[in-house]
Amino acid sequence: MRGVIADNAPETATRNLYIETYGCAMNLADSEVVASIMAEKGFKTTQDINEADVVFVNTCSIRDNAEAHVWGRLREIKHHKKTNPGMIVGVLGCMAERLKTQLLEKEQVIDIVVGPDAYRDIPQLITQVEEGHKAVNVLLSREETYAEITPVRLSSNGVNAFISIMRGCDNMCSFCVVPFTRGRERSRPSDSIIKEANDLYTQGYKEVTLLGQNVDSYKELDEQGNVICNFAQLLEKVALLRKDLRIRFVSSHPKDITDEVLHTIKRYDNICNYIHYPLQSGNSRILELMNRTYDRNWFKQRLDKIREIIPDCGISTDIITGFCTETEEEHQDTVTMMEYGKFNFAFMYQYSERPGTLAARRYKDDIPSEVKLRRLQEVIEIQHKNSLALNQAKVGTVQTVLIEGLSKKSDQSLRGRNDQNSVVIFPKENYNKGQYVKVLIENATQTSLIGKALEEVVFD
Ligand code: SAM
Ligand code: SF4
Ligand code: F3S
Repeated sequence: MRGVIADNAPETATRNLYIETYGCAMNLADSEVVASIMAEKGFKTTQDINEADVVFVNTCSIRDNAEAHVWGRLREIKHHKKTNPGMIVGVLGCMAERLKTQLLEKEQVIDIVVGPDAYRDIPQLITQVEEGHKAVNVLLSREETYAEITPVRLSSNGVNAFISIMRGCDNMCSFCVVPFTRGRERSRPSDSIIKEANDLYTQGYKEVTLLGQNVDSYKELDEQGNVICNFAQLLEKVALLRKDLRIRFVSSHPKDITDEVLHTIKRYDNICNYIHYPLQSGNSRILELMNRTYDRNWFKQRLDKIREIIPDCGISTDIITGFCTETEEEHQDTVTMMEYGKFNFAFMYQYSERPGTLAARRYKDDIPSEVKLRRLQEVIEIQHKNSLALNQAKVGTVQTVLIEGLSKKSDQSLRGRNDQNSVVIFPKENYNKGQYVKVLIENATQTSLIGKALEEVVFD
């Protein structure tokens, strides 16, 4: 959740926008597009909800608890509206797309409902509300990528920025609501991505993360429908911009990450050796029910291939426990796959049935919640053990770290990340945000590497 101040509010801005963002990085990037569209309409962003003329909540539907949280937040916003009756309240993002006008029926405080592909329509929707109507636009698009809108960087540290390279998802994993809330997959023209990366560098940014639900299926097409730039080629184009502009990307679907992508990562020092590689389950029957299109063996082989081509690659994953009909033995396959995979990090969840998805229509959500939770705790425990061991193995090594700012715990320490996306903490001395430094790792916890800076890395 974030309240934010715009860094490029026009001098003519007369009204205040307060925007809170939930869910994934795509939603964070979308809020930056919305702030830009609102800036054009004369709004600057504020961190104080009490001074807002418009409040937007950019929402997530991925699990039931993500939606429950937003409902709670909307009830709180209702109290703010009592003291500020002119305030316009909008629900944006995936809940807006999933629930559409039901949102207006369920919660009186909402004036506007806007789906992820309709943000250009927001100024017009605000006008409708000012004329006394409720306003809704949840149309999905096959083309919209907001390509030429320059996002207003919200809560930015001035070092890392997201660049959205594609929207939507065509994969239809049976548990997942995203294809319904974000629509069909489409890629943004590479020229506009390169321009955005270049502009960010000129403004002092040192790391860009290329974003999409499934970045490896990025493809720019010509008018005849031929692929003129695939994901590996896009990575290369961004990598060639500047040696000291780091590149990350997220998320990859295991089925789509090609050897060409792996070799491109290996070839360029500024493409980080880090891949988010979501397993979901270690059992082939469950993977089939999930419609993930790979099985246990295939996943294992591709994991081996990543490590063969990029030996020091940081790898993270996603796990869902207690998917429909999952037996104890099948859960154990996830446990053993995590032990084999030795992921650096993992995002782990209990299965949450989402209305309208393939799984909700076809399979019974039959694993009791206490069993889902116990299985979740088991995988979390393995992950903690793996994270600690992998971090401890880095003690004594020297890591190149991009400094992102002060450590959360002390203003005498700095925080950054190494190539593999591990957090590194070290004494501040005279180093500053945005610098690359060599850090000798002296200690490690499950969540971070701790060390001391040796010298700045200077790029020729
Ligand atoms: N497209 C990305 C991918 O395939 O990895 C990200 C999808 S989603 C935003 C992030 C993660 O949420 C998924 O990888 C999955 O582990 C989890 N997830 C999605 N739907 C879920 C559900 N119904 N219940 C629990 N976890 C879910
Ligand atoms: Fe959801 Fe699967 Fe698409 Fe990821 S790849 S967004 S999990 S449908
Ligand atoms: Fe959530 Fe939508 Fe992202 S459902 S995870 S905000 S794409």
